[in-house]
Amino acid sequence: MRVDLVVKNIGQLVTMAGPPRPRTRKDITEFSIIESGALVISGGRIAGVGKDSILRDFEIQGDTPIIDAGGGCVTPGLVDAHTHPVFYGWREKELALKLKGYSYMDILQEGGGILNTVRKTRGATEDELVVQGQKFLNRMLAHGTTTIEAKSGYGLNLEGELKSLTVLKELDRTHPVDIIPTFLGAHVVPEEYKGNKQDFVDLVINEMIPEVAAQGLADFCDVFCEEGVFTIEESRDILLAGRKYGLRPKLHADELVPFGGAELAAEVGAATADHLLCSSDAGIKAMVARGVMGVLLPGTSFSLMLPHFAPAVKMLEMGLPLALATDFNPGSSPTESLQIIMNLASLKLKMTPEEVMTAVTINGAYAAGRGDSAGSLEQGKLGDVVIWDAPNIEFLMYHYGVNLVDKVIKKGVVVVDGGRVLYETC
Ligand code: NIG
Ligand code: FE
Repeated sequence: MRVDLVVKNIGQLVTMAGPPRPRTRKDITEFSIIESGALVISGGRIAGVGKDSILRDFEIQGDTPIIDAGGGCVTPGLVDAHTHPVFYGWREKELALKLKGYSYMDILQEGGGILNTVRKTRGATEDELVVQGQKFLNRMLAHGTTTIEAKSGYGLNLEGELKSLTVLKELDRTHPVDIIPTFLGAHVVPEEYKGNKQDFVDLVINEMIPEVAAQGLADFCDVFCEEGVFTIEESRDILLAGRKYGLRPKLHADELVPFGGAELAAEVGAATADHLLCSSDAGIKAMVARGVMGVLLPGTSFSLMLPHFAPAVKMLEMGLPLALATDFNPGSSPTESLQIIMNLASLKLKMTPEEVMTAVTINGAYAAGRGDSAGSLEQGKLGDVVIWDAPNIEFLMYHYGVNLVDKVIKKGVVVVDGGRVLYETC
């Protein structure tokens, strides 16, 4: 077997090995950390993982790159299971409005917010969106993210949504970060359908979903199910239509007010329900019973200056498997860094370092539909690895506001070194 790369002298090797399913709090008590560990990657996949002594079992050629982790911490590449990276233009002007007390919904209802981004994104060419997207993906990669779920949702007409999903396909082809695409045609009602919402819902169901599915452009179908956006009934119709075309349901659920989104997620058998800031206990219970994962996005509470965060500890106690994600977008969560989300999850959601690591690796991979290939360092899985400038996972939760990544390995190739993206190798 030809060895691509060896990582040795790992102080804390966090493999995330465990049962092949989204992990609940009970699973997380058997958290696997190997001290004095080593990793071997061959053919882009993990070939060996264990104590340094495993290296004796491999025939390592003289020219095989060997990385000394210097006693640092090594984890799987991070998986960001909820992002919106196809947009044009930022929305920093909303900060002044937020400081004056305008809410996210106030800004949207006045034609700003998502609608502002839709105007700019419709006006951008595919090439412009790809160039922007590459910049975002580079920042994600530099911060340790090797796989993302990514949504359309700033086109909101057939042409614009197909353009956004095509941009994601092109980014996936040309950039080392793996992208799992989600169709979010029902993000808001676009201006030209104001007062005519049912016609827009019909457009999503009868034209957009069939075409997106026919072109094989998405794995999931998502809806912004929220008061003042799409109702439970409209969301149900859209998600069931998507399911008929093989798109697995996902929801933006109960972000701003209690709305029954968690219950709907359970009813339609969604892969995930995301946000869940205001969900009822009955809704969470129904999700657990139906096997729906929760994806928490504490960057939005922080950035929208909301008084509350999702009740993660209660959800974990109820047996809900959780992923954590950035929700990267120009409005409610303008950050490409999962590291700040890890800090928030620890300091604000009160999740343990083990729970946070689970949520940004193996559970993120399950939430994005890639639990079989990403999210843990186990034989046969992708050689996606982060070498941290940190001695242990507690350090990642505690030291905040700076990039703690030293190296990132994607499918056995070093793509970030000293925190810098080596673009030419990508
Ligand atoms: O997940 N809530 C809806 N969608 C995004 C925000 C998008 C935007 O503000 O541009 C979210 O928070
Ligand atoms: Fe979102």
